Amino acid sequence: MESSSAVTHDLTLESVKEEIYSRNNPTLTPIDIEAHASTVHRILELKKKHDVVILGHNYMEPLVFGISEQNEQGDSLALSMTAVQTDSQYIIFNGVRFMAETAKILNPEKTVLIADKTAGCSLADDFSAQDVRNLKEKYPGVPVMIYINSYAEAKAECDVCCTSANAEQIALEMPGDELIFVPDLFFAQNLEMVLKGKKKILYPGNDNGTKGAVCQVHEKFSLEDILSVRRTFGIDRDSENRMLYVHWECKPEVLQEADFYGSTTQISNDISRRVRNGGLEKAFIASECELTSNLMEEFPTVEFATACSIRCSHMAQISLDKIRPILEAIDSGSDLSKWEVTLPEKIVQRASKPIQRMLSFSS
Ligand code: 13P
Ligand code: SF4
Repeated sequence: MESSSAVTHDLTLESVKEEIYSRNNPTLTPIDIEAHASTVHRILELKKKHDVVILGHNYMEPLVFGISEQNEQGDSLALSMTAVQTDSQYIIFNGVRFMAETAKILNPEKTVLIADKTAGCSLADDFSAQDVRNLKEKYPGVPVMIYINSYAEAKAECDVCCTSANAEQIALEMPGDELIFVPDLFFAQNLEMVLKGKKKILYPGNDNGTKGAVCQVHEKFSLEDILSVRRTFGIDRDSENRMLYVHWECKPEVLQEADFYGSTTQISNDISRRVRNGGLEKAFIASECELTSNLMEEFPTVEFATACSIRCSHMAQISLDKIRPILEAIDSGSDLSKWEVTLPEKIVQRASKPIQRMLSFSS
């Protein structure tokens, strides 16, 4: 995503404020900007002073998103790739804990920090390494692909990792006619539908006595909701300039109704392409609401409908007021353990294999 960033060369409070106002993000009022500008200023000052990389997931609220430079923003895949390339000693991950863990696995020598270690994810939280072992016992010899939305212990049991940006491609490239996909049940069913006749997707369920998980945000979008957005907001089917975007984590009947489905960055890229090619008029995205807040800023000519009652409570835990103390602690040389992501060395070694294998497909 190419959202503006609040990082300026001339870091005075006034210049930072000016830059935020100039972004013209329709979801930011002058009240928000005045209330947070000095915190943004201090964060950017310390970020620069200590050469801290601040990775920002597309779901961060606009002021938090803006403290990451453009090349530090993105979806789970882009952020994993950026995490590999960084030379900085400190990485602050503005996203949820499994994402920060992935950055740590890829940079075991670096200090990876997250503003709130309790920022979980229903997919990762409801799935364990034992669940993978149970499935492997049920389907011996079948490779296991694990969605990046999982914790390191579960990844350590798997053959390859994927994100929503590369799951379809990697599933096809994995050897054999069958593939176990965990932990997201809707994503698995969506892959099953899309790959029908090409690859058999196995996943947790009653017939194999295991339990998968669903995203607590994306499960809230029903087919009725989507059809009503089409009707009331005028997003006609098969219209080039009115688009209904859906994330892979939505239910199969919702994905089937989409004009486009993909990762958060793939959705953003499709919007960008359509805007460049003569105009996208209206769009609705069945995903976390702050993604739309950031896209509204980037594409001011597009009219977006929003569903901001649907929020990821985990992503929302990452705030400017929780990020600033991390940078203050770096500055004063204080203890960082409250924010530092640590993992047992053995888990890092084992979990890095499926992640590295994923990156080898993606590069
Ligand atoms: P992306 O990888 O598409 O950014 O998605 C991550 C996520 O958590 C979606 O809910
Ligand atoms: Fe997890 Fe869903 Fe939140 Fe993404 S939106 S972090 S999948 S709970």
